[in-house]
Amino acid sequence: MGLHEPVEDWASDFDHTDDAWAADPFPIWNELRQTCPVAHSDRYRGVWLPTRHEDISAIAYDTERFTSRSVVVSEFRPPHEMAPAGVAPPISSDPPFHKGARRVLLPAFSPQAVDRLEPSTRAYCEELVDGLRGHDVVDAAEGYAQHIPVRVIAHMLGLPEADADRFRGFVNHVLEGVALPMEERAAGMLELFEYLKAQIDDHVAHPRDDLISYLLDAELDGEKLDFFHVGRTIALLLIAGIDTTWSAVGASLWHLAGHPADRERLVAEPELLPTAMEELLRAYAPVTMARLVREDMDFAGCPMKADDFVLLPFPAANRDPDAFDRADEVLIDREVNRHAAFGLGIHRCAGSHLARMEMRVALEVWLEAFPTFHLADPAAVRWSGGQVRGPRTLPLRMS
Ligand code: HEM
Repeated sequence: MGLHEPVEDWASDFDHTDDAWAADPFPIWNELRQTCPVAHSDRYRGVWLPTRHEDISAIAYDTERFTSRSVVVSEFRPPHEMAPAGVAPPISSDPPFHKGARRVLLPAFSPQAVDRLEPSTRAYCEELVDGLRGHDVVDAAEGYAQHIPVRVIAHMLGLPEADADRFRGFVNHVLEGVALPMEERAAGMLELFEYLKAQIDDHVAHPRDDLISYLLDAELDGEKLDFFHVGRTIALLLIAGIDTTWSAVGASLWHLAGHPADRERLVAEPELLPTAMEELLRAYAPVTMARLVREDMDFAGCPMKADDFVLLPFPAANRDPDAFDRADEVLIDREVNRHAAFGLGIHRCAGSHLARMEMRVALEVWLEAFPTFHLADPAAVRWSGGQVRGPRTLPLRMS
C-alpha cells in the first residue's frame, strides 16, 4: 500500500489497495451500490467493481464470459497458453478442466478428513493461549490468529513448521504486493516456486503420508498430475488457506472486543457459536476474488473490454440490503444466512470445512481462556487491504 496515487473518486478511479478501503470499505460499497453499482477504474490496466449481490453472483456463475485465468488483480495478465490449468489450479482453471482439478483436491478437505485435524488444531490453539496468559495487552492478530492456519496447512502439506515466517512472507507478497514493480513481483514469485520445488523434490525422493505426496500420486483423466500442476496447487493452498482464515478469526475477535454484549452472550451461550460464526463470516467476509473479461461485451450497461479485470467483492454482496435483512447489522443469532463469504458458483471454497473448523476451534479456545477482552486502542488496529481483508495488528486489553 502507499504505492499508488490516492483515490479521489471511488466510482471512476477506485483502488482496492487504498488505505481507506483497508480501514473501512463498507461505506464505499454502500455509496456505490446506490450511485454507481458497477464502478470502473483505469488502474491495473482496467478494472470493474460490481457492488450488488445480484451482479456479483451473475458474474461468479458466468464462466462463459468471465474467466478465472487470473483471480488476483495486478498490472499483469497471465498468458493464454497457461490455460486450461492456469497459474494455480483449480482456482485459475475454467470449465471443463476445472472440474477434475477440483475433484482431485476434495477428499483432502472432506468433513471426515477435517475432523481428523481437529484435535491437533485444538492442542495448538491451547498452546498459543497459554503463551498469552498473564499479559495485560496482547496482539490477537499477530500473537494468535495468524499462527493457526499456518500450522494447520504446513502439517497437512508436510512442509516444515519452522518455515512458517517464509510462508507468511510469500502470501503477503502474492496478495498485498500487487502494486509492486513487475520485476520485484516476479522475483518474489520465483522465490516461492523455488522453495516449493525443493519441497516437492524431497517428497518425490521420500514419499510420506501428507498432501504433497497425495497430490504427486493423484490422477486426472487416468494420468498423474504433472509437476507444475502439483506445485501450483500447493502454492494455491498456501495462499488460499493462510490469510483468509487468519483474517476471519481476527475479524471475529475484533468484533467481539468492540461489542461486549455479543461477547458476553457467546460466553454464556456457547451453543450459539456456529450461528454466530456464520454471521461473522457474512459481515466481515475477508475474500474478494477477481475474473478477467473474455471478450469485449456489455454487462449491466457497462462496456467491458477483453482482459479487463472484474473484482468480485463477496463482502459487499454480503452487505447488500436487497439480499439480507438489516444487512449492516451483526446479528449473532441470524438464522437464515446464505452468505457469499466462501464464494458463489463452481469455484466456491474447497477448504470451507477446514476454514470453519479452524475458526470454531480458535474462537472456542479463545473464549474459554479469555471471556473478557476489549480493544486496547481502536486507532491502533491495522487492516490488510487488497483482496484479503482482515486485522493484521489487533491489540486487545485482557481484562
Ligand atoms: C475463512 C476462510 C476462507 C475464506 C473466506 C475463503 C474464501 C474463498 C472464496 C471466496 C473462494 C472462491 C474463489 C473464486 O470464486 O474465485 C475460495 C476458493 C478456494 N479456497 Fe477458500 N477460503 C477460506 C479458507 C480456505 C482454506 C483454509 C483453504 C484450504 C487450505 C481454501 C482453499 C480454497 C481453494 C482450493 C479454492 C478454489 C476452489 C475452486 O476453484 O474450485 N480456502 N475460497
